[in-house]
Order: sequence, then structure tokens, then C-alpha cells
Amino acid sequence: MITKYDDVMRRAAELALRGPRTGENPQVGCILLDESGTIVAEGWHRGAGTPHAEVDALSKVDSAKGLTAVVTLEPCNHTGRTGPCSEALIAAGVARVVYSLDDPGVAARGGAQKLTDAGIDVVPHILPGVGENLVHRWLTANRLGRPWVTAKWGSTLDGRVAATDGTSQWITSSESRSFIHHLRAQHDTIAVGSGTVLADNPSLTARTANGDLFPFQPLPVVIGAREIPSGSSLWSHPRGVLHETGPLDEILARLFDIGVRSLFLEGGPSLLNSFIREGLVDEYIVCIAPMLLGGTRTSTGDLGIDTLTQARKLSIVETQHLGGDIVVTAREAH
Ligand SMILES: NC(=O)c1ccc[n+]([C@@H]2O[C@H](COP(=O)([O-])OP(=O)(O)OC[C@H]3O[C@@H](n4cnc5c(N)ncnc54)[C@H](OP(=O)(O)O)[C@@H]3O)[C@@H](O)[C@H]2O)c1
Repeated sequence: MITKYDDVMRRAAELALRGPRTGENPQVGCILLDESGTIVAEGWHRGAGTPHAEVDALSKVDSAKGLTAVVTLEPCNHTGRTGPCSEALIAAGVARVVYSLDDPGVAARGGAQKLTDAGIDVVPHILPGVGENLVHRWLTANRLGRPWVTAKWGSTLDGRVAATDGTSQWITSSESRSFIHHLRAQHDTIAVGSGTVLADNPSLTARTANGDLFPFQPLPVVIGAREIPSGSSLWSHPRGVLHETGPLDEILARLFDIGVRSLFLEGGPSLLNSFIREGLVDEYIVCIAPMLLGGTRTSTGDLGIDTLTQARKLSIVETQHLGGDIVVTAREAH
């Protein structure tokens, strides 16, 4: 159903994207409209500990009396590091609140009811797909109680990640690699196995095409019992490095407990395989180079799948051409 708020909701979603994709809080945008439907203020959330989108928008008007607030997520109803947005909207005297997606959070939901109880006209579920898409990662992480996991690898057209002698630098194009650095900076953590640390001595920083560091650097996490060598580049990482051992689901639960909501899994093959086998991957980013290598070094090994009916069924959410490569983004259905 097309409503008069659809275009404003799309604009609110654009504003939400100005906030960080990383961190414990979702990206949220808010617009204030006057009685004629003209935009009088725009707000968005800039990350945990900063004002929520509604409060940001309210701070830009002298009076919000009689205005309509259009928000991508149901206004929250709980006091975290900042106060409840539902109360701020009531106190400001808005006449109507229009939102896209219900807040599923146990602590935060109930904002719409509180607004209704205060006599405010509440219009829910305007373009719910838009609101859902914005915070898909955050929703999944909170529902599963573990970070959203994006697994990435680069392979040839015949699914090989290295030649028979082990050489693998560089299979994919520089454009694909730049894209991967950009993605790193959109996750709270980057994880690799201890095998990769010992073989490649990676720095695991997120860098621009010029080699400069992005302003946000994800925390590197090394998974495995072997020590990180004293000369490892990881010791110079601006965020330091976290060393984790034990069952993967327990590691992910511990990361969630310290506020990690997204993890970028960069391999190597053994760790990647275990994550997939255990059903711990949400999204796959696969850079496919127009090259054939043959041999046994395939992108995945035994996934515990014996027959076609057990295949992990994914849906493709995006394909792009980068340099000579095709980059496929696919998601699990869970
Ligand atoms: N093409 C690519 O995209 C790409 C990406 C990354 C790496 N690589 C290449 O991959 C090679 C290293 O791969 P790799 O498979 O030997 O190492 P890896 O996957 O990076 O690390 C494997 C190690 O992780 C630890 N680990 C902890 N929990 C695990 C679990 N549940 N399942 C599996 N491993 C677990 C184990 O170390 P402990 O014994 O210490 O516990 C294990 O030996 C390097 O040559 C590197 O260049 C390629």
C-alpha cells in the first residue's frame, strides 16, 4: 500500500545510513514534519552513547508541538546510556509518530504503546522492508545472541583459493581488495585462524586504496590455541588484538557479551570451514576471479554435507563487477 509517508520514510532511511554500521546500536533516522508535510528537521543516530535519532531531530527545532515524527524504528522505551525516545517525543508535544519497524528488543520495545497511551497518533509499519533492511544485521545478532558473521574469500572461477604450490597472492583484482577493506571497516571485529597469522603475518587493518587507515578500525580476533608470535604485525594494530580459544559458538557468545555485533571472517580455510559446518555464517562475500587453477585447494572442504538435499541454501542479495572479478553477496535463510 502506498502512503503519503513513503517518500519521507525513504529519506529517513538515507539519514540512518549516515550513522555507523558498527557498534551495539542500530542505524536509525528521524524526520520531523509540520502540518503541511514539510520537513522541518532531520536527525540520525551517531552510535552508542550519543543521542538517538528522535532526540537529535528534536534538538534542531525550537518547538515540536503538533509536529509529526517519521522514524525508521519504533521509538525505544528504555533508559540505556540515553533516556527513552518515547518520553522525549511525548515531552516535546509531537502530535503523531510514524515508524517503519517494530523494535524487537525485550528491554526497548513498548514505545508505540507508551506513545498511544499518551494520546499521540501512532502510525506503524510504513515501508517495513525499508526499516528491516537497515538493521538486518543488528536484528539477527540480537535474535541469535551472537555477532552477525560475514565470511569472505577470493577464488578462481573453478573455486580454487590457491595454486597447488600454495601461491595465492593475488587471485582477485585490486578493486575487489579495496572493496574488502571497505567492508572490514563496517564490522566490529575481523577474525582469522592462528594458521593464517603464522603463515601470512597479516596486519588486519582496514585501509583505503592509498594505504591510509579508515577512521574506524575493527578489533582483530585470532582464533586458535597457538601463540601469536612476538614479532606479529598484529601487536602494532591500533585496537590491539584479542586471542580466543575454545568452541566457536562460545567464542561468539563471549564477543556478543562485550558488545560485538558483527564479525568479518577472513579465513583461513580450516576456520572458515568450521564456521560454515556449524551454521555460524550469516553472509558470504565471494570474489570470483576470471582464472582457472584446478588442483585440490578449494574454497571450502568437507561441510558435512553428503547429499543434495542437505545443501546449504543461500539467497543472492547482490552481484557486482569489480575490476575483472564478480563479487557475489549471498545470505543464509535463517
Ligand atoms: N584465499 C584466501 O582468501 C585466504 C584467506 C586467509 C588465509 N588464507 C591462507 O590459508 C592458509 C592458512 O589456512 P589454515 O586453514 O591453515 O589456517 P586457519 O584456518 O587460518 O587456522 C586454522 C587454525 O585455527 C585454529 N582453530 C581454532 N578453532 C578452530 C576450529 N573450530 N576449526 C578450525 N580451526 C580452528 C586452529 O589452530 P590451533 O591449532 O592454534 O588451535 C587451526 O589450526 C594460509 O596459507 C593463508 O595464506 C587464504
